[in-house]
Amino acid sequence: MELYRGNIVYAESAEKLAEYRRAWLAVEAGRVKGIYPVLPEEYEGLPVTDFGDDVIIPAFSDLHVHAPQYPQRGLAMDTLLEDWLNRYTFPLEERYADPAFAKAVYDRFVDDLLAHGTMHAVIFGTIHVPATDYLIGRLEEKGMHALVGKVNMDINSPAGLCEDTAKSLEETEEFLARHRNNKTARPILTPRFAPTCSWELLCGLGKLAAKYETGVQTHLVESLWEAAEAVKMYPECGCDTGIYEQAGLLGHGPLLGAHFIYPQDEDIRILKKYDGFAVQCPDATINVIAGIMSSAALADAGIRLGYGSDIAGGHNLGIFGEAARSVQLSKIKTLYEPENNRPISFARAFHTATKEGGSVFGKVGSLEPGYQFDALVIGGVTDPFMELTPVQQVERFCYFGETKDIHARYLAGRKIGD
Ligand code: GUN
Ligand code: FE
Repeated sequence: MELYRGNIVYAESAEKLAEYRRAWLAVEAGRVKGIYPVLPEEYEGLPVTDFGDDVIIPAFSDLHVHAPQYPQRGLAMDTLLEDWLNRYTFPLEERYADPAFAKAVYDRFVDDLLAHGTMHAVIFGTIHVPATDYLIGRLEEKGMHALVGKVNMDINSPAGLCEDTAKSLEETEEFLARHRNNKTARPILTPRFAPTCSWELLCGLGKLAAKYETGVQTHLVESLWEAAEAVKMYPECGCDTGIYEQAGLLGHGPLLGAHFIYPQDEDIRILKKYDGFAVQCPDATINVIAGIMSSAALADAGIRLGYGSDIAGGHNLGIFGEAARSVQLSKIKTLYEPENNRPISFARAFHTATKEGGSVFGKVGSLEPGYQFDALVIGGVTDPFMELTPVQQVERFCYFGETKDIHARYLAGRKIGD
């Protein structure tokens, strides 16, 4: 058993953050055993790692990120989605036909995820199998909880990324079979988005979803252009989310709909029916998508929420910053559309970034007993002029913290990064 001491913060619910000052936290076999404001007698005399006034918090979950776009972050941010994809993003993704390039980027990407305190992630690869095999293998090797997809796209795509439908399905099945028994990094179906997927491809993926009991990630009603395009291509499905339901892709595992900014009532009904996540990517929606999710209204409707960095639509890998931006965006949304929106609290944002996002993967994202001890120790955010509560330290970290303010990282109870 290991004992730690410090300030402690985690989300009990979207309404309530638990907060302890200078308490003890016990970890056994990689999981939290308990938090104790007073050291229990039986633990007296045991060695304690004392973090002083630093705060122990759960690690973050990134529910939408494109690993291959890592080299592109902060570039071409003055374009909108369609141009950004065609002129910049697709040409970069073509380079992942080269396994050496993929290995170099993916090694760095995984290290940087951990550096930013993200220990769980739902990740897009590219269409390329060797590259995506490497990525999922690397995450598994690190023991990180992840869902990783080989991307499928067979229409309206540049020649270098446009797959043959039968081959795409065949390679995807092999990818699922090869990695389905992984311990922590597992495969997920990844049709890119409606505009680049044929009906034959979607229905083929639907069959694989049922056969391998696999979930699906995609972009859902992400921009005005995409939402209109999806309904134009598949009018009989009624709405963007309906396309995936009709193709048989839903109900076989986790469902992650990135962005979910322009849903019709039907999109919301279907997402809820399958207990799917609406994944908000605040930076990406400011940079290339141009829209703001109605996060409070979706939460009221019973939809599960998560955050995504959406690298490289987003330019920051840190989910803590996305939580802060989500609070900011909820206020702007309320200003312009007061009827259906309201500002969200920091408690809700932190809950979304940790416990709710983590629930995709099992018992990660909290420090309640039984949760895997995937945790960060944050410091450097105290104030020389004001005493901050532990929750205030965490809020400040989300607004302007940096990787250097994460003083220690624990994954499944093991210290990493030293
Ligand atoms: N829609 C389709 N592909 C992408 C992508 O790579 N990034 C984002 N943000 N949206 C997309
Ligand atoms: Fe994306």
